[in-house]
Amino acid sequence: MRDTIGREITYLRISLTDLCNLRCVYCMPPEGVRKQEHRAILSFEEIEEIARAAVSMGVRKIRLTGGEPLVRRGMLSLCRGLREIPGVEELTLTTNGLLLPEMAEPLKAAGVDRINVSLDTLDPDKYRKITRIGSLDQVLAGIRAARDAGLTPLKLNCVLIGGFNDDEIPALAALTRDEPVEVRFIELMPIGHAVPFGPEAYLPCETVLERLPRLERAGQDGGVAERYRLPGAAGTIGLIRPLSRCFCRQCNRIRLTADGCLKPCLHSREELPLRGLHGEQLRAQLERAILHKPEQHAELSARSRSQAARDMNQIGG
Ligand code: 5AD
Ligand code: SF4
Repeated sequence: MRDTIGREITYLRISLTDLCNLRCVYCMPPEGVRKQEHRAILSFEEIEEIARAAVSMGVRKIRLTGGEPLVRRGMLSLCRGLREIPGVEELTLTTNGLLLPEMAEPLKAAGVDRINVSLDTLDPDKYRKITRIGSLDQVLAGIRAARDAGLTPLKLNCVLIGGFNDDEIPALAALTRDEPVEVRFIELMPIGHAVPFGPEAYLPCETVLERLPRLERAGQDGGVAERYRLPGAAGTIGLIRPLSRCFCRQCNRIRLTADGCLKPCLHSREELPLRGLHGEQLRAQLERAILHKPEQHAELSARSRSQAARDMNQIGG
């Protein structure tokens, strides 16, 4: 289905839980978040029903997010259920990677095509600092497990934070030399716990182009990233620039929160509750959400925060 300015909505992101086994400083409070009551979050049956309705309206790609999607108990059976929906061409997820050593193969067997793993630094001390409790070794083991299980092409998400990891741009980019991975530099967005960060933290992706002058254009990725390549590299570099180059015009997505609300736009307050709706009513509410997609979000910058009413761990990026 198309929205009011002709964007075809083909991509549904589903947050399975607000919980996470990390506490990234830009995303979560140090103490974590309180576990919601079981009945406050959508059951797998409800998620599948919503996904089927969305697919009947033109969604072809589904991504599972969180919090951390792999910590939701039984999520492999949900993956199998979603995979069986006729019309789902791609099933992916975004994970911090910690649980991949044991879950990569089962995820592939359950029908997940490929995954994105968050990796903001290659320095073990900095990894501990940014995630508060994580171990870099575990993520690197997870990334290897994902590659071995064939959850490829792998994408590694790196949120650029001025004064924290900009010195690692060359090292992170070098991960693409020998392996067909995509390292994606994402501009830090002023949402949730990132809002209090100082202006120096908000580094434009232009910095990546300045630090890596040999980067060559490698076309658009069909999504929101601009794609580049180091000369002769096996993999690619993606730039995702929500602040410095608004990509709302290409936005093809809607988001479902773990408690059953549909968000037409990541950065808007608007949410439409889907719980308790079935059949035509459910489809009508989905249609309403798509027609409510704003043309563009309000300005985002180090000084103007997102209008979203939730934190990132409740939306899933
Ligand atoms: N700005 C940009 N990216 C963010 N993520 C979480 N919070 C922010 C933010 N404020 C990223 C995570 C992960 C993905 C789900 O979203 O690092 O890669
Ligand atoms: Fe967890 Fe991802 Fe938030 Fe980090 S950014 S705390 S890994 S949900």
